[in-house]
Amino acid sequence: MSKVLVCDPVDQAGIEILSQVAQVDVNTGLPPAELIRIIPEYDAMMIRSETRVTKEIIEAATQLKIIGRAGVGVDNVDVPAATRKGIVVVNSPEGNTIAAAEHALAMMLSLSRYIPEANQSVKNSQWNRKEYIGAEVYKKTLGVVGLGKIGSHVATVAKALGMKILAYDPFISAERAEQLGCKLVDLDWLFREADYITLHIPKTPETANLINAEALAKMKPTVRIVNCARGGIIDEDALAEAVKAGKIGGAALDVFAKEPLGESNLRALGKEVILTPHLGASTAEAQVNVAIDVAEQIRDVLLGLPARSA
Ligand code: NAD
Ligand code: MLT
Repeated sequence: MSKVLVCDPVDQAGIEILSQVAQVDVNTGLPPAELIRIIPEYDAMMIRSETRVTKEIIEAATQLKIIGRAGVGVDNVDVPAATRKGIVVVNSPEGNTIAAAEHALAMMLSLSRYIPEANQSVKNSQWNRKEYIGAEVYKKTLGVVGLGKIGSHVATVAKALGMKILAYDPFISAERAEQLGCKLVDLDWLFREADYITLHIPKTPETANLINAEALAKMKPTVRIVNCARGGIIDEDALAEAVKAGKIGGAALDVFAKEPLGESNLRALGKEVILTPHLGASTAEAQVNVAIDVAEQIRDVLLGLPARSA
């Protein structure tokens, strides 16, 4: 019987699908050395974002056929190393789209009304209404960087909130943007005009540190930035400096260059900054979706059927 190693917490719905065709071992939080020791026993691996599937782990895998990432980004898998060994890497491109989009929208609205800090103040027995005068998003301009699955849903909902939408995405046509009610512009235009900027792009060599000191200097002093995409797209020190100096209005971040977030200048900032621990995909619905999506693909490969690679 085939053996599947589940290395990160995934929904039971996925485990049940895998159990129909394989022995499933759920073993989370394994140190890399232990993973390297046991991986030769396994035909398939299922992960979320915590486990890093490095070249060393892949090289140690003697019978691995497939790595399933229960989520979108496969940046925690050394895909070229897997491909060289003929190991298929699959993901769930759509299972958490709505969850991530709704988290970005929640971050934008929370940031506008200082909800996290206002909540904490009431819980600390304060009643300070003057401190938390926020801003409306209605009639404001939202700049969406990356008009893919998540960016499109954010744009659609933001439009319904009465926002004007500018979008930057070099791989999307002006017609597609127009269908979504967005105006496609270049990045400098978006930086200059937006009251809110939300990032929905992968981290690539082109997008690493896209929001750096130079970019921040082009933005309105009131701009609020949301990143529920990937850490490393924003230069976190430059962002913290810009918030501290009042050069931008604030930021809400779900993802960080290094996760879990260690020592960071962002932690010391006040109500203008919201930080969440990579919760974009953390809804009950999304976790069921991604677990089923990836488990079905692993099951098919173990049964000798073709895979849809990430
Ligand atoms: P997608 O592939 O559907 O969309 C990404 C878009 O970015 C595409 O339209 C692409 O053309 C565009 N793009 C690529 N390079 C670009 C560049 N240099 N400049 C501007 N646009 C560029 O992906 P998606 O499902 O919408 O996911 C977007 C991001 O969100 C990914 O990084 C994904 O890993 C991340 N994500 C995070 C969470 C979370 O928990 N916070 C959850 C799901 C997805
Ligand atoms: C993803 O890429 O799907 C997200 O980062 C969510 C996650 O699985 O943690």
